Amino acid sequence: MKINKKLLLGSMIITTLALTGCQTMMSGMGMIPMGSSTDQEDAANLWAVLKQNNLVGNNMKRVRVYPGSPPHGKILETLHQQVTVNGYTGLAIIKRNYGGPGVSTNAVKSNPGKYLKAVTVMFKREAGYDPEDKNWFWAKYKPNGSLHTKPKMGMDIPLAGRVAKGKDEGCISCHKGAPGGDFVFAQDISL
Ligand code: HEC
Repeated sequence: MKINKKLLLGSMIITTLALTGCQTMMSGMGMIPMGSSTDQEDAANLWAVLKQNNLVGNNMKRVRVYPGSPPHGKILETLHQQVTVNGYTGLAIIKRNYGGPGVSTNAVKSNPGKYLKAVTVMFKREAGYDPEDKNWFWAKYKPNGSLHTKPKMGMDIPLAGRVAKGKDEGCISCHKGAPGGDFVFAQDISL
């Protein structure tokens, strides 16, 4: 019994390693334009800066709470600010996505933590990062700063980087349709 358990654990570890390796390899080869170890590191560095600026996390600044629509939350907050990550300064746009049973603008105003489902962020990167798609870095975080993932070919791909570039669905393809060709829907954000 003991041996079986060990064997099982061993094969699980090997499978995990194989999948992780495979994912890193495919991201490295550019087959998946998101979720690589670099993308995850970039996402973690960006989150840390957003937190320092009280744009996310427990001390987040509160802004206007308004009703939204899919794929973003039923209730939303949107804010933007220039931030500096590793010496590079660019515009970050933060959308807080609220949902769940009983969600309403008033409920979110009084208890945001209870309803916060995801923090979706666009960060304007340096020229050359993704020239065809206006150099945006995309990430979908959980409230604690870890990344949401999307299952793909038996792997969980972290949603960070050039998210779903070249696909019919996802951040880039949908935001491509935003008026003005800058991938931003909000009218009050000037780039
Ligand atoms: C099917 C379309 C669609 C998809 C997919 C989508 N978005 Fe959006 N996004 C919108 C719309 C519409 C708005 C404006 C919503 C509002 O404020 O009422 C928006 C707003 C935003 C904003 C605020 C800036 C702006 O454009 O107004 C951010 C940041 C954002 N989305 C990030 C993301 C990220 C990151 C992803 C992928 C994980 C994503 N979005 C996927 C449609 C989409």
